[in-house]
Amino acid sequence: MSVSLEKSTAHCVSALASSRCRTVLVVAVIIITIYAFLSRTDDFYHHQQPPYVLNQSSKTTDGIDWSRFAYTQYVTSSVYLCNSIMLLERLHHLGSRADRLLMYPEKMLPDPETWDDGGFQDAELLIKARDEYNVKLKPIQVQHRQTIDDTWADSYTKLLAFNQTQYERVIAIDADVTLLKHMDELFLLPPCPIAMPRAYWLLEKANITSPMALASHVMVIQPSEREFARIQRSVERAADDEYDMELLNKMYADTAMVLPHRPYTMLSSEFRETNHSLYLGSDDPEWDPAAVLREARTVHFSDYPMPKPWKGKLTAWDEMNIQVGA
Ligand SMILES: *[C@@H]1O[C@H](CO)[C@@H](O)[C@H](O)[C@H]1NC(C)=O
Ligand SMILES: *[C@@H]1O[C@H](CO)[C@@H](O)[C@H](O)[C@H]1NC(C)=O
Ligand SMILES: *[C@@H]1O[C@H](CO)[C@@H](O)[C@H](O)[C@H]1NC(C)=O
Ligand SMILES: *[C@@H]1O[C@H](CO)[C@@H](O)[C@H](O)[C@H]1NC(C)=O
Repeated sequence: MSVSLEKSTAHCVSALASSRCRTVLVVAVIIITIYAFLSRTDDFYHHQQPPYVLNQSSKTTDGIDWSRFAYTQYVTSSVYLCNSIMLLERLHHLGSRADRLLMYPEKMLPDPETWDDGGFQDAELLIKARDEYNVKLKPIQVQHRQTIDDTWADSYTKLLAFNQTQYERVIAIDADVTLLKHMDELFLLPPCPIAMPRAYWLLEKANITSPMALASHVMVIQPSEREFARIQRSVERAADDEYDMELLNKMYADTAMVLPHRPYTMLSSEFRETNHSLYLGSDDPEWDPAAVLREARTVHFSDYPMPKPWKGKLTAWDEMNIQVGA
């Protein structure tokens, strides 16, 4: 065995020594060198592509690492979980390129890794969001505070968006918002701790001592440990009739970047208004509800005294407010 191996090795060496074989080898080396050189220059030109030839419809050629960005949703109850999933489905359907993060109360899904059995609607919905709409699940503790109006007692939970420092920027949208178009371009705003849309419906009432000019149901946030700590301190000091919107206006009214409410948000109550000058931003009487809806990115279900549309059963309190409001 070892003898025949030695023999064949010797044969190879003598073949290599022949001049014909040397010629073949030299030609091969030249070809390989030219090929390597060409493929490197090709590479070089690929990387030199000027940055302005962006193709916005393509994931890989726009040069943006979308995994640094996320839309966040927070859930405090089963009803809002359902709304959140619908909104996340929209983002998926509309082809948004950023991550989607759903913050949910830990008890809704005890163990996301091993969960495979159905039976619990909340857990099933969470798994559906993860598997079908590419949603990242994040268990959290609901941030509850004793407040005068129970409607918003859990709304501080939304401020956890400031704590998602695994992302450079997040867009936090409330679950009682319906999304008509994605807003990926907002991830590329100039740096600012927070950008919020103008609360156009309050413009008449706002003044220097009570600005309240910014809405908190759509926010572009740069998560930061420092800002989150500052917010947590404000929450601890908040009065019991002060909710997330009041708190954020107090903290950021003078420093936030203001997003134009057209097209980023409108209230569903706008369609019941008779005077649209605050929304339109002019005395122009031209009100075309279909055109306005085509332009809007989001509609916030907010139509006091009408309750949220998914509320199956009105309480006596709702009935009374509707009577008074009518
Ligand atoms: C962008 O890329 C897509 C798919 O790669 C292509 O269909 C489209 O024509 C491109 N658009 C432009 C403006 O180059
Ligand atoms: C904020 O994020 C940190 C790091 O991920 C985590 O340890 C902490 O529990 C979070 N705080 C809250 C209130 O969720
Ligand atoms: C500012 O607005 C608040 C709330 O709308 C009101 O109570 C207050 O009187 C106003 N102050 C001035 C100076 O107009
Ligand atoms: C509509 O509202 C604006 C501001 O709230 C007011 O200035 C204007 O006079 C109103 N127009 C009508 C026709 O009532």
